[in-house]
Amino acid sequence: MTPSPRFVRGRILSFRDDPRLVGERAASLIEDGAIRIEDGQVAAVGEARAILAHAPPDAAIDDHAGKLVMPGFIDAHIHYPQTRVIGSYGAQLLDWLQKYTFVEEQKFADPAHCEAVARFFLDELARQGTTTAVVYCTVHPESVEAFFAESERRGARMIAGKVMMDRNAPPLLRDTAQRGYDESKALIARWAGRGRLGYAITPRFAVTSSEAQLAAAGALAREHRDAYVQTHLSENFAEIAFVKRQFPWAKTYLDVYARFGLLGARSLFGHCLHLEETEVAALARSDSIAAFCPTSNLFLGSGLFDKQRLDEANVRVALATDVGGGTSYSMLQTAAEAYKVLQMNGQSWPGFQAFYQMTLGNARALGLQSRIGTIEPGREADLVVLDSRATPAMAHRMESHDGDLSEELFVLMTMGDDRAVAQTYVAGRGVKGG
Ligand code: GUN
Ligand code: ZN
Repeated sequence: MTPSPRFVRGRILSFRDDPRLVGERAASLIEDGAIRIEDGQVAAVGEARAILAHAPPDAAIDDHAGKLVMPGFIDAHIHYPQTRVIGSYGAQLLDWLQKYTFVEEQKFADPAHCEAVARFFLDELARQGTTTAVVYCTVHPESVEAFFAESERRGARMIAGKVMMDRNAPPLLRDTAQRGYDESKALIARWAGRGRLGYAITPRFAVTSSEAQLAAAGALAREHRDAYVQTHLSENFAEIAFVKRQFPWAKTYLDVYARFGLLGARSLFGHCLHLEETEVAALARSDSIAAFCPTSNLFLGSGLFDKQRLDEANVRVALATDVGGGTSYSMLQTAAEAYKVLQMNGQSWPGFQAFYQMTLGNARALGLQSRIGTIEPGREADLVVLDSRATPAMAHRMESHDGDLSEELFVLMTMGDDRAVAQTYVAGRGVKGG
């Protein structure tokens, strides 16, 4: 017997396309809409009157009157072992890694610690309306095991991988080229494509990997075409200088990754702040993705992401929190900080583009647009319910709102955070309280 359907009613907002390219008609809003959910998927969506007319008499109907129901947010770059590093004072990237991050990540040798932090992390993402994330674990396979096991238990669509790191890190955080390869391979065999889980081959960055290890990562990418690759690129000037010293044959930082076959349509490069022209061109040519991490870039004093330059060069861009260099789990707050970063370079980012990016835009960056990122029949029912009047200050601000959706979205991202997330659904199941 199939379980009875669930219905979610509210102002259903989903994007069909990129508003930067097609304008506001990219958005589809049904003011009094409803979604019929069966087996964790969207079975139907439309006007509430029409959808609810077919509801069984005892059907569960979640009525979110006045609130926006959107596809769940997608975070394209985040570190789950850094939940206790967030907000660490006074250092830029390389010192921050040594002083805080590498100390904390050593605790993940203990599986019980991994499990406890994975639970906290996934709870927190749910509270923030984030239903999919691309996640760095630590060098310990146990950290990946715990993360995937907990994600599977919750039925969440998550992508993650074991950090590969064989130099310039504390001995207890180092693997070797061979061990990094073997452990990643075993994790891919066990978890990649299982249920809603995906694997990301994760050489941390060129600073902490030998040539042999980057070659091993490249071999994994060739052997597992469905796997993602994630790493960091051009975040900080001292980091860039370090990479150039360490790989004197490389013309640019990105050249190091290119040499080992790590560029491509499933490759995510965190930060991409201080790129040379040839690097921008190589990212575009290879269909690689640049992950924009505004709160991290501001917090670590790394630099200002030049989105317009990458857009004009046709580089694919995703948006991400980068917790714990990033300072907020909230994709709303992340979008607000992205807007401010762009303002510093005379660039703009309307609410429509920001909400497109957090949903369908990031889904496209991950090649997952046939599964998540929109609300339409056959898509997985990962949803976020947003209240534009969640706080007294937001309600007060909205008193002068004239009904323009773009303005409402902009207020939501500028003033909103977890308090504006009234509910989150993972595969059709409400996971935030009530
Ligand atoms: N580069 C290499 N590792 C990291 C990390 O953990 N956070 C950030 N922001 N940059 C990195
Ligand atoms: Zn990062």
